[in-house]
Amino acid sequence: MKAALYRTVGAAADVIRLEEVERPEPGPGEVRVRLRLSGVNPTDWKARAGATPRPLEGFQIPHHDGAGEIDAVGEGVPAGRLGERVWIWLAAAGQRWGTAAQWTVVPAARATPLPPGASYELGACLGVPALTAHRCLFADGPVSERDVLVAGGAGAVGHFAIELARWSGARVAATVSGEAKAELARRAGAELVVNYRQPGAQAELQRFSSRFVRIVEVNLAANLHLDLGLAGPETVVVVYAADLEDPVLPVRGCMGANLVMRFVLLYGVPRPALEDAAAAVHRALVENALSALPVVRFPLERCAEAHEAVQSGATGKVVLEIP
Ligand SMILES: NC(=O)c1ccc[n+]([C@@H]2O[C@H](COP(=O)([O-])OP(=O)(O)OC[C@H]3O[C@@H](n4cnc5c(N)ncnc54)[C@H](OP(=O)(O)O)[C@@H]3O)[C@@H](O)[C@H]2O)c1
Repeated sequence: MKAALYRTVGAAADVIRLEEVERPEPGPGEVRVRLRLSGVNPTDWKARAGATPRPLEGFQIPHHDGAGEIDAVGEGVPAGRLGERVWIWLAAAGQRWGTAAQWTVVPAARATPLPPGASYELGACLGVPALTAHRCLFADGPVSERDVLVAGGAGAVGHFAIELARWSGARVAATVSGEAKAELARRAGAELVVNYRQPGAQAELQRFSSRFVRIVEVNLAANLHLDLGLAGPETVVVVYAADLEDPVLPVRGCMGANLVMRFVLLYGVPRPALEDAAAAVHRALVENALSALPVVRFPLERCAEAHEAVQSGATGKVVLEIP
């Protein structure tokens, strides 16, 4: 099969190659998926660049996320799943068969049915961002009829955080850096969208709510003071991204707000919670509550350029078209 892969870590253009490799076979409890689209996330380029060291045995086909159809099942997986349209999550976690290839094999639970109304484009964008958004929102309980703030509401995680929060009945405010991203956040369902770079952002958010139960945070170092100004005893600030510089924690300010902070890294989220999150995302898809951000498409052979686009902060989602 054709696969984009790397054999050493390094710059995208130096290490990613299109190669022919043997098609994988599903082991017990696994399914094989004929891929249509592969979704690229920041974690994929960070792993390829060597920023988050992982063992590399021979080669690594990158990317956790993708969409396609099941075309083979391993022992113990019902044959009824053959032909099922699925979205895939964490395909490259602990194995070499990521989704930047014509086929992948994953544990059956990581190939979640894609309802008839949901496109492959949406399916390929769900995995890492939607599961992360779900964990950030719900690890500390429901948010229905409560107020949620999503920092970076036009980012991939931010987008699904808005949509999943709205789906579960929350009121949602979001921050963005400019008008184009504001439009994306509004389209996802944010009732208030503010530009965090402009003065008055905090006051606008305070007028929207004095009782945020979640602040889904993409940049704690930049936003800590904003978050502290909005947080109270019911607020959980949930941090899912690290920047180059760690913030200094103003302990007295955190105490003053009676602040609770949670950190999320998808790779360490317990498996039952991941499976619950995938099931919830499936229900949201069935209820037509999720949408794709605008996608930027690259053919499989231009995988290195796709990585560069994600690395330079492309707006929307970058996907690879699989031949
Ligand atoms: N912990 C985990 O398991 C996990 C899972 C998924 C992603 N991540 C990490 O989370 C980060 C985002 O991932 P993604 O896929 O959502 O990326 P993305 O689609 O590029 O979105 C990131 C968004 O954050 C916004 N942003 C940056 N600085 C901001 C600030 N100070 N306040 C508000 N918004 C800000 C960016 O827009 P502007 O710069 O225009 O504001 C952009 O819209 C990456 O570092 C990724 O590695 C971690």
